[in-house]
Amino acid sequence: MSNNKNELKVIKTEDGSSSIYNASLDETYHSIHGALQESNHVFINHGLHLLKSENKAILEVGFGTGLNAALTYLQSLESDITINYTALEPYPLPIEIIYEVAAGYPKTIAETMILLSQSEGGKPIYVGSNFIFTLHLTQLQTFNFIDKYDLIYFDAFAPGKQPDMWTLEIFTKLFDVLNPGGLLTTYCAKGAVKRNLKQAGFTVKAFPGPPGKREMTVAFR
Ligand SMILES: C[S@@+](CC[C@H](N)C(=O)[O-])C[C@H]1O[C@@H](n2cnc3c(N)ncnc32)[C@H](O)[C@@H]1O
Repeated sequence: MSNNKNELKVIKTEDGSSSIYNASLDETYHSIHGALQESNHVFINHGLHLLKSENKAILEVGFGTGLNAALTYLQSLESDITINYTALEPYPLPIEIIYEVAAGYPKTIAETMILLSQSEGGKPIYVGSNFIFTLHLTQLQTFNFIDKYDLIYFDAFAPGKQPDMWTLEIFTKLFDVLNPGGLLTTYCAKGAVKRNLKQAGFTVKAFPGPPGKREMTVAFR
């Protein structure tokens, strides 16, 4: 994988929000049917809002444009619960691209995407009074976990493009860092992926997908 600027193109998705097309992978960062709709549906409504625990330590695999993180931050403004958000991103996007994508979002989301994308790797920052954010510029495969999480946003590129991200080994690693009662949510509903999640110990449930997609997956520990 590479993040050569010449291979990245900012696109408009069907709900009017922006995303990125990566030509070297021939893959987009979000659903072409609607980036904002997809993030809200998969990660906020079938992730954050399904989490019963009062504790909210979130791990995001694949920070990308920062859209999921920004939407989660906005949710944190609506409650008193502290969210501790850790994001992994080995191939950070050039900041000019982030500015261009962010221009396709409402101001509060855009400003947060830009702010979070510029945070220094490995250094926690407070955003507002109850959102603590840490970006690690590291691959999931080599990341040494110290903390445990209540919720995992699994937002890797599709299995057809990045098969090494959807293996039993990866899901076992994630199962081990998830607190009991925690959950992992992903847009993907492939049979082979669900089988690997089950084999790693998760209880797997299908939910209706965002517009343009029949199903998505939530895996519970
Ligand atoms: C589908 S995009 C994520 C979109 C992102 N969540 C957003 O809101 O914009 C997949 C992301 O996974 C990242 N990625 C690729 N290989 C990875 C790895 N080994 N570990 C963690 N992230 C990886 C890519 O660089 C890319 O940013």
